[in-house]
Amino acid sequence: MTATENRINRIKPDRNAPIGVFDSGVGGLTVVREIMRQIPNEKIIYFGDTARVPYGSKSRETVVRFSEQIVRFLRTFEVKTIVVACNTASAYAMDILEKETDIPIIGVVRPGAREAAAVTQNGRIGVIATEATIGSQIYTDYIRELNENVTIYGKACPLFVPLVEEGLLEDPVTDEIARRYLAELIDIDIDTLILGCTHYPLIRSTVGKIMGDRVRLVNPAYETARELQNLLAEADLLSRNPPRLGENPHQFYVSDKAEKFLRFANSIIKYGILSAKAVNIETY
Ligand code: DGL
Repeated sequence: MTATENRINRIKPDRNAPIGVFDSGVGGLTVVREIMRQIPNEKIIYFGDTARVPYGSKSRETVVRFSEQIVRFLRTFEVKTIVVACNTASAYAMDILEKETDIPIIGVVRPGAREAAAVTQNGRIGVIATEATIGSQIYTDYIRELNENVTIYGKACPLFVPLVEEGLLEDPVTDEIARRYLAELIDIDIDTLILGCTHYPLIRSTVGKIMGDRVRLVNPAYETARELQNLLAEADLLSRNPPRLGENPHQFYVSDKAEKFLRFANSIIKYGILSAKAVNIETY
């Protein structure tokens, strides 16, 4: 029995229930965007932990505790599945969340690792991510499970998350910092670079410009939405009801600064985000 089957067989949720998605902040919206594109019939409950971002510089214990609280919060909506739209939480908490959760749950690391292992031609893959994700070696472990002959170069880019959270997506400061971080990845002949933090696709054009055309950028958000679709299809859980005309099927929650989140969310997802509410996540 595969890990996926194992998860699916636990309980049979309602196919029309929403999908819970979470991240430390706005980064998971890159995954939400892909879910909306690829499986538009699905309803989403999103939680961004804007009060406690960034996760990437925190300890495993803390990230696990935060993730467990968020899963408890999302489950109050009777979600049919949970997407951990955060590489750091996927790296630190996935094993524990899978054990504790009786509905299907997927992270973003495995789908990204699978895609990178599949597309590299020369077996040299770079990963940029938070300190936590790089330190956990999770991408290296997953990619090596698929192909032992691949060499993986990890680079932590801790300033990218605050730059993205501040909305400095195309800004000379972001450009300068990206040049410094990426300098050591430029001359080592990688042909694939994983954007190993869900915030990073928002600065994809900056990263792409610096790395050049010969390096293929892998966005795990895209792969995760595809894997989610397969998981729901296999489990016979895909929603068959398209949202009714005029109905807003999605809900967005944060732990702080709901207005700021809403403005940002609307700047990157052009429809479907009408409001965002703040909740006290510490009570879950
Ligand atoms: N967007 C998250 C990730 O993918 C977390 C970044 C952070 O909070 O440090 O790793």
